[in-house]
Amino acid sequence: MSTDTIQTDAYCVFGNPIAHSKSPIIHAAFAQQTGQALVYERRLAPLDGFALAARGFAAEGGKGANVTVPFKLDACALATELTPRAKAAGAVNTLRFDGDVILGDNTDGAGLVADIVRNAGVAIPGKRVLLLGAGGAARGVMLPLLQQQPGEIFIANRTVATAEKLVEQFHEGASADCTLRAGGFEQPDGVFDIVINATSASLAGDLPPVPPGVFGSHTLALDMMYGTAPTVFMDFAAQHGAQVRDGLGMLVEQAAEAFYVWRGVRPETRGLLALLRGAL
Ligand code: ATR
Repeated sequence: MSTDTIQTDAYCVFGNPIAHSKSPIIHAAFAQQTGQALVYERRLAPLDGFALAARGFAAEGGKGANVTVPFKLDACALATELTPRAKAAGAVNTLRFDGDVILGDNTDGAGLVADIVRNAGVAIPGKRVLLLGAGGAARGVMLPLLQQQPGEIFIANRTVATAEKLVEQFHEGASADCTLRAGGFEQPDGVFDIVINATSASLAGDLPPVPPGVFGSHTLALDMMYGTAPTVFMDFAAQHGAQVRDGLGMLVEQAAEAFYVWRGVRPETRGLLALLRGAL
């Protein structure tokens, strides 16, 4: 009999705090569904000790990790190689350890796009998109959104200069048919097809003060946040006739994309999304 021990491929999610993370449940479900043998756990890293914790996990034989608040910039700095979408985001939510190589990727934007296109059934090409917020969450989804060739992305933010910077950064990557604009919350004019709340305002129960006229009956209004109850943004959008969606679908889809980066297999997400929704 061989004395070799067969080590199951190990993955984890780093964050601080991390106890609330749904990632272990999601990845365990993906592994079971696709027949992939792996273990996945939560790891609390000290606020000033992410790199050490991540290197330690890789040294133990860890194959990859998800990275959440507040370590996405640290993970970007730790990576020895970045995918184009991670470079554009300036942040990393997925690490893959291949020997000495630490690949940094960002699957948040792909997750958002998959949720809009596949789960909500809304095609993006040619559409008017209003992106609220210009921080890390907004920047993280810009490249995958632009790759869908919308007709327009209006980035509205409380601090207009930050939105203008984002437009500057992504101007070259936008196709000639896509108008990129920046402004304050009160500035977007007319009805938009897709309105995405990428601000952290919902955490404080605040509402980005957009004109109600941006919402129409065919508008998809998506808040990147999720919880047991709709956010103030979702309530406001629904009151003005929009179809609303929270960030749970994006969470599941970014995880599916990370699973693909690690395992080369794309899991099915619909059943799991319904299950997680029921358990909120
Ligand atoms: P994240 O990584 O979640 O994007 P961030 O980079 O700190 O976090 O960005 C937070 C975003 O939410 C910013 O666009 C911020 O606006 P400012 O650039 O003006 O700071 C926005 N934001 C936070 N609180 C808000 C509030 N109460 N109302 C409107 N926008 C808010």
